[in-house]
Amino acid sequence: MTSQTTRVRTQVGIVGAGPAGLMLSHLLSVAGIDSTVVEVRDRAGIETTIRAGILEQGTVDLMAATGVGDRVLAEGSRHDGIEIRYGAESRRIDFPSLTGRSVHLYPQHEVLKDLIAARLDRGADIRFGVTGVTLHDVTTDRPAIGFTDADGTPVELRCDVVVGCDGSQGISRPAVPDTLRTDYFRAYPFGWFGILAEAPPSSDELVYAHSERGFALISSRTPTVQRMYFQCDPREDATQWSDARIWDELQARVSGNGFSLKEGRVFQRGVIPMRSYVCSPMRHGRLFLAGDAAHTVPPTGAKGLNLAVSDVAVLSQALERFFLDGDPGLLEEYGNTASDRVWRAQHFSWWMTSMLHRDEAATDFDARRRLGELGMVTGSAAGRAFLAEAYTGWPVALTNPGSVAAEAIRLTAGRTP
Ligand code: PHB
Repeated sequence: MTSQTTRVRTQVGIVGAGPAGLMLSHLLSVAGIDSTVVEVRDRAGIETTIRAGILEQGTVDLMAATGVGDRVLAEGSRHDGIEIRYGAESRRIDFPSLTGRSVHLYPQHEVLKDLIAARLDRGADIRFGVTGVTLHDVTTDRPAIGFTDADGTPVELRCDVVVGCDGSQGISRPAVPDTLRTDYFRAYPFGWFGILAEAPPSSDELVYAHSERGFALISSRTPTVQRMYFQCDPREDATQWSDARIWDELQARVSGNGFSLKEGRVFQRGVIPMRSYVCSPMRHGRLFLAGDAAHTVPPTGAKGLNLAVSDVAVLSQALERFFLDGDPGLLEEYGNTASDRVWRAQHFSWWMTSMLHRDEAATDFDARRRLGELGMVTGSAAGRAFLAEAYTGWPVALTNPGSVAAEAIRLTAGRTP
């Protein structure tokens, strides 16, 4: 660090202003714990990048109970079910009757807008557009984050705890040394071709479709913008596809028996890789990993953002115990506590992916067996309940009664939609 380095102090230094980093900073601030968030992207980029769309009921409840839920409740749309479609027929999974819960369709960047606005309202220190982020002294009790501020000033941010919320490609995950880290990893031999199109909705609820041509997902963003995906080769070049070819492929996978997609201009397209990953441990000294920095799920179960939020709900309870009661016990247990939900979500995301996608290597037996599985899941109340429970989300561990997250969860637990 040079002599012009600005030295700043905070309790919790957070790398990354995504769902995990911003939600953590928000929960800590309600608890009276100071944090600074550093982020390499600029604010406009974060607020406009289209990502996931489904919020579990627990995510919405936590937002609402901590003062950042007004817009999701007013403008998000509550979904009481999804359609599983195969053999040209849709089978509905009704969430409230099976679980007493629902989900909300509310795009991730809208969640981020709400969290950024709330944080800045409370005078938060969020450094957007920083470069050269480095972690230091994470195995001491004064870890630091080094970076260059957007205006070119070198900064050293001294902290009590550093939390890596910088995603799967960030600097935090590799800061857990190879020799101490186990990487649980699975790649899938396909990707998702994702589009945004100017069109009216084709369905009131999300449609997860399995067909001989492969998987397709029909989702929505607004009454005039639709989000759809179809399984493709992970190396597919999205720029080579005309609108007509995209619509033909989507229609071939989902239409039939009176159902077809309403088409329109495709104004954004791209290929998303599919992988499952868990980092163990989720901590190294005073560095803690949360969200995609700690794990990745394929998007089929809509779990990525929700898992980021449940991680920080667990971590914030532990940080409150540490800062307000001087007890590091829950922090030491963070990875163990979070990993129960992480591995359930890993299983569910893998299972939905395997069940709904076309596997080039599958034998005829496997392909027919898959239809048997879809029949079992959609054709019995127990099968539907298994899917609905996982999709709407499992409970978050309550480890610190009286903490902000625990109170919020307790307040809303069992609330019927
Ligand atoms: C989306 O709307 O982008 C979306 C919804 C559900 C998923 C994945 C993506 O499982």
